Amino acid sequence: MGYIQTEIIVVDAVYPAPAVIERAANLLREDEIVVFPTETVYGLGAGAFQPAALERIFAAKGRPFSDPLIVHIADRHDLVQLTTSIPEQAKRLAQAFWPGPLTLILPKEPRVPHLVTAGLETVAIRMPRHHVALALIRALGSPIAAPSANRFMHVSPTTAQHAYTDLAGRVPLVLDAGPCDIGVESTVLDLCSETPRILRPGGVSLEALRSVLPDVQPPAQRRTEVEDEDIFAKKAPGQLLTHYAPTVPLVLFDDTVETMRSAMLAEIQRRCEQGEHVGVLLAEEDIPTFQDSGALLYSPGSADDLKQVAANLFAGLRTLEEAHVQVILCRNFGDQGLGLAIRDRLLKAAGGKVYG
Ligand code: TXA
Ligand code: MG
Repeated sequence: MGYIQTEIIVVDAVYPAPAVIERAANLLREDEIVVFPTETVYGLGAGAFQPAALERIFAAKGRPFSDPLIVHIADRHDLVQLTTSIPEQAKRLAQAFWPGPLTLILPKEPRVPHLVTAGLETVAIRMPRHHVALALIRALGSPIAAPSANRFMHVSPTTAQHAYTDLAGRVPLVLDAGPCDIGVESTVLDLCSETPRILRPGGVSLEALRSVLPDVQPPAQRRTEVEDEDIFAKKAPGQLLTHYAPTVPLVLFDDTVETMRSAMLAEIQRRCEQGEHVGVLLAEEDIPTFQDSGALLYSPGSADDLKQVAANLFAGLRTLEEAHVQVILCRNFGDQGLGLAIRDRLLKAAGGKVYG
C-alpha cells in the first residue's frame, strides 16, 4: 500500500471538540480509516456498511480476511440494522454492561458486509463507553467496525503513540485522548450457542457476567493438537495461541509466589551468564527481590490491583520489546476477575509456554 501522511490530533477524552470529531467522521464518510480511543484499547475504525473502507482496515493491519471485526454502536436502537434477533439474555447483559467492554455475538442481519463477519452467520457488537468513540459513531450516524489499532500479531495499543508506532504511514488520522482506562480488550461473549460462552476474556469479568447470567461458561480449554486448533479457530476466530505475540519470546511463570520468584531468579541468572539481555514483567511487590538480578524490570502494578495491572500490561510488553531484551520472563497474576483476561493475553504472548 502507498504511504499516507499520518496526523495525530489531541482530543479531550470527556469533551472532544466537535470540529475534530466532524473531521474524523468526514474521513470515514470518504471510505477512509481512523484510529480512535475506546476505554479498552485504541481501535482502527471504518464505516461498518462501507466495504471499500473495511478493506482498508485489513490492508493497514496486515490482518487476514478470516478474522472478523467488532461493530461499535452508540445506541441500543442501532442493533436492529445489525442483528435479526435480540435475545432476552442480550437485553439483560446490555442493560448491565453497555456502554462498556462487553462484545456480544448475535445472529447477523443479511446487510452486514461479509468483510465484517468473515463470512460467518454471526456478528460481534459492542457499545463502547469512551466519549470520543461514542461521539465519532454519532457524528458518522452509523456503526463503526473496528479491530484494535495494532499491526496483525502485535499487542494492542493502549496509547495513541502505540497505534502510531504500528500504523504510521498507513492511516490518515489518529485521535489521541491519552491512555485507555481498561487496557485489555473487551470480553467477547457468544450468545449463539446453547449456553453463553466467553470466547475471549476481557474487561468484563466472568464473575460479573455470572451475576447477570449464572450459566455463562468460561473460555474453552485450548488443546494443543493441530486438529483441535483448527476446530477452535472456526468457533473463536482470531483466538489462536500466538495472536498477541510481542516480537520477543515470553515465558510465563506459574506456582506460588515464593517458588515462582526463585524459579525466575534462577532463569535470569542462567540467561545473564550466557550474555542474554533479559526483561522481567513483575508485580510491584516483587521489585526488591529482583532489583540486583541484572534483568530489566517492568512492573504494571501490584498483584492486588488487577485494574492497574491490566491498564499497564500492554505498555509493559511494548516497553521491554523496545528496550531490545531477548526474552521476557513474566510472573502470573492469577485468574480471578480481570486476572483471567491478563492471563489469556500473557499465555498468547507466551505461545502457551508456561514454566512450573
Ligand atoms: O476492546 C475491544 O474489543 C477492541 C476495541 C477497539 O473495541 N477491539 C478488538 O477488536 O479487540 P479485534 O478485532 O482486535 O478483536 C475482535 C475479536 C477477535 O478475536 C475476533 O475473532 C472476535 O472478536 N470476533 C469478531 N466477530 C466474531 C464472530 N462473529 N464470532 C466470533 N468471534 C468474533
Ligand atoms: Mg486485536
